[in-house]
Amino acid sequence: MKELLQELSPGDRDWLLATSLDPKRIPSHIAIIMDGNGRWARQRNFPRIMGHKAGVDPVRAVVETCARLRVEVLTLYAFSAENWKRPRHEIEGLWRLLRFYLKRELPNLMRHEIQLVAIGRLESLPSPVQEELQAAMDETAHNRGMRLNLAINYGGRTELVDAVNSILDNARLEGNLHSLEISEEAIGTHLYTAGLKDPDLLIRTSGEMRLSNFLLWQIAYAELYVTETLWPDFTRTELLQAILDYQNRERRFGGLTRSAPSAMDLSSLLLEEEVLELPLA
Ligand code: FPP
Repeated sequence: MKELLQELSPGDRDWLLATSLDPKRIPSHIAIIMDGNGRWARQRNFPRIMGHKAGVDPVRAVVETCARLRVEVLTLYAFSAENWKRPRHEIEGLWRLLRFYLKRELPNLMRHEIQLVAIGRLESLPSPVQEELQAAMDETAHNRGMRLNLAINYGGRTELVDAVNSILDNARLEGNLHSLEISEEAIGTHLYTAGLKDPDLLIRTSGEMRLSNFLLWQIAYAELYVTETLWPDFTRTELLQAILDYQNRERRFGGLTRSAPSAMDLSSLLLEEEVLELPLA
């Protein structure tokens, strides 16, 4: 398949890939760690911010393709809680790019009925960034198409801390702190992603085999797709390939394959002593 794809023009390639997809098994929620902007810039002797700038077009392509494929939720990791450790001029450049993206893409988001929501500790962002994000969220709030989460000043651990503190605050208000028991469901409903399905597919660019504190709770059963492609080079074609790859996986959620003979069935036919005597290798 890969060789055949290489011989086709980009348009034909995307058409072939898109028609190979099973429309009934498009992932409901795709999450992406957009990595490799710095390396992309370094390979060209450009300043790092040029890599981030080159990363805006793939954001646009991915958002539009996911909306067309009727993906319900797309979550993009735009700025992690750890990214504050970067030089000030790089961080300021990222805020400028975000504001540029919001301004340029708002009409597109409206056209595709996309609802934009920023998730993370937004109160630490510079005021103009907070204001523009809020304005974009307000303007798209009634859109009924795809939900686009932009994870900004986001950390999976801080999200869990915020969720637990919010549960405790509610319990204090309701006066039932002494009898409080925290369930998985309670945590889920206090996360920034409350009410949304968990990601089915997590894509990471630039080949790093790390989760980098992204959606730690929500990706418990996500299928991972890691590509060597640096984010600025990520295309619609590769997104379609990632979805096709996902559709060829078998998701078991900790259970067993439906078709393969089950080990449980076999062991239930054996007596306990016989099981203990089975060779391990
Ligand atoms: C990681 O690459 C990327 C980021 C910290 C920022 C992501 C930002 C964009 C894709 C730009 C625009 C985004 C929006 C939503 C408008 P890196 O700098 O860590 O790359 P490196 O590992 O190669 O240094």
